Amino acid sequence: MEGCVADNLTRGIGVSNFSAKKLRHILDSGTVPPAINQVERHIYLQQPRLLEFCRQNNIHLTCYSPLGSMDRPGLFKAHDEPKPLFDATVQAIAAAASAEESDHSRTPAQVLLQWCIQTGTSTIPKSVNPARLRENLMVVSASLPPLSDDHLRDLNALDRNRRLVDGAFWTGENSPHTLENLWDEE
Ligand SMILES: NC(=O)c1ccc[n+]([C@@H]2O[C@H](COP(=O)([O-])OP(=O)(O)OC[C@H]3O[C@@H](n4cnc5c(N)ncnc54)[C@H](OP(=O)(O)O)[C@@H]3O)[C@@H](O)[C@H]2O)c1
Repeated sequence: MEGCVADNLTRGIGVSNFSAKKLRHILDSGTVPPAINQVERHIYLQQPRLLEFCRQNNIHLTCYSPLGSMDRPGLFKAHDEPKPLFDATVQAIAAAASAEESDHSRTPAQVLLQWCIQTGTSTIPKSVNPARLRENLMVVSASLPPLSDDHLRDLNALDRNRRLVDGAFWTGENSPHTLENLWDEE
């Protein structure tokens, strides 16, 4: 990938699912620092230490599964998987923000996406539904007022370090990965 940058085939290098430990290794051994790291991040897995590491090293963080990835096959879901879209606090904030703003209603999905953006990350929600795509894109169309500091604080308090995409499917007989060395969790 560094050769691609040198040959002007790409302007930057992105990585995914990199822990701070893996990013540190690349920063110490490579010549082109990664521009971006795409990881699971949502209200239940806020990743404050990884986010801070990325900030300090000028690596942008983008959040996958910001809405809780509810359409994953059941095989990859825990039986007690929490659902960010149905979180009572998220729903209350959506209702309160809608009531406060006569011009806009706010959906739980928009609250979750605004939280990603207002905490300094970008996010890549997936939808195959045109109306939901429009709803999601509204959070960057500048027509939706930001969440208040109080609402952000309430959302920040929901962290439970709960990974939904646990990565078990990346481990297996011939894989170099185990759940331990995949996430490098302390
Ligand atoms: N790098 C990695 O290892 C990695 C791992 C996982 C995911 N990803 C990527 O991250 C992206 C998003 O993650 P994800 O698909 O896991 O989860 P997600 O975006 O959190 O959730 C997608 C689910 O939310 C629904 N949805 C979308 N917008 C909605 C809205 N406004 N209201 C209600 N429901 C809504 C979708 O249904 P509909 O489609 O029916 O709207 C779908 O069921 C994908 O592009 C995926 O490829 C990357």
